[in-house]
Amino acid sequence: MEAELRIRNAIETDVEEIYRIHTEAIKKKCSTRYGAEDVSAWVARQEKAKYLPFIVANEIIVAEIVQSRRVVGFGHLTADTGADSDETADGKAMQIRGLFADPDCGVKGVGTALVKELENRAKEFGAVRVKANSSLNAVEFYKKCGFFALDITRHQISEQSCLQCQKMIKYL
Ligand SMILES: CC(C)(COP(=O)(O)OP(=O)(O)OC[C@H]1O[C@@H](n2cnc3c(N)ncnc32)[C@H](O)[C@@H]1OP(=O)(O)O)[C@@H](O)C(=O)NCCC(=O)NCCS
Repeated sequence: MEAELRIRNAIETDVEEIYRIHTEAIKKKCSTRYGAEDVSAWVARQEKAKYLPFIVANEIIVAEIVQSRRVVGFGHLTADTGADSDETADGKAMQIRGLFADPDCGVKGVGTALVKELENRAKEFGAVRVKANSSLNAVEFYKKCGFFALDITRHQISEQSCLQCQKMIKYL
């Protein structure tokens, strides 16, 4: 039987699974485009407690398998307010801050289902575009979801590690 996915807001008890999916996806998926030192530094900076304020603010959604209630992915959407915010007269943008699917769940379509829901939520917030700083391994995935690639950006994640990412944008 094909797994049916449900998307819902994350709750505090999802933290363990969110952390596991986050770190496993970095180790197993992002390692295709980043070196071992970068992957280790990226994993090391994740902390379970960091998700809680975003969960309380309803910024994190999870995908779960309806039949088993197993959480198989999560996405994080925020207002586009950082240093690279480009809110202009043509309307506001929202930013996908994280998108991770369980690399071991064996279910296809988790990332797509999460992106669709994040886009719907962005529209409800009045956004006209959604942005993402995609890790290099996920650029093709975002393109399949209708995003366009912009320029390359860099994220300093530790003293030694600076990750290249691809800025992506989709007009809603
Ligand atoms: C990127 C990610 C969320 C995609 O989730 P997913 O559940 O594997 O994606 P889907 O099953 O919905 O795939 C949708 C389509 O994109 C394709 N796709 C997914 N990942 C891809 C990749 N890395 N390269 C090329 N195509 C990819 C799928 O083959 C599928 O194509 P199809 O519709 O022709 O079958 C997941 O691979 C992941 O967690 N990666 C590691 C974390 C990451 O890089 N996150 C990105 C933001 S930082």
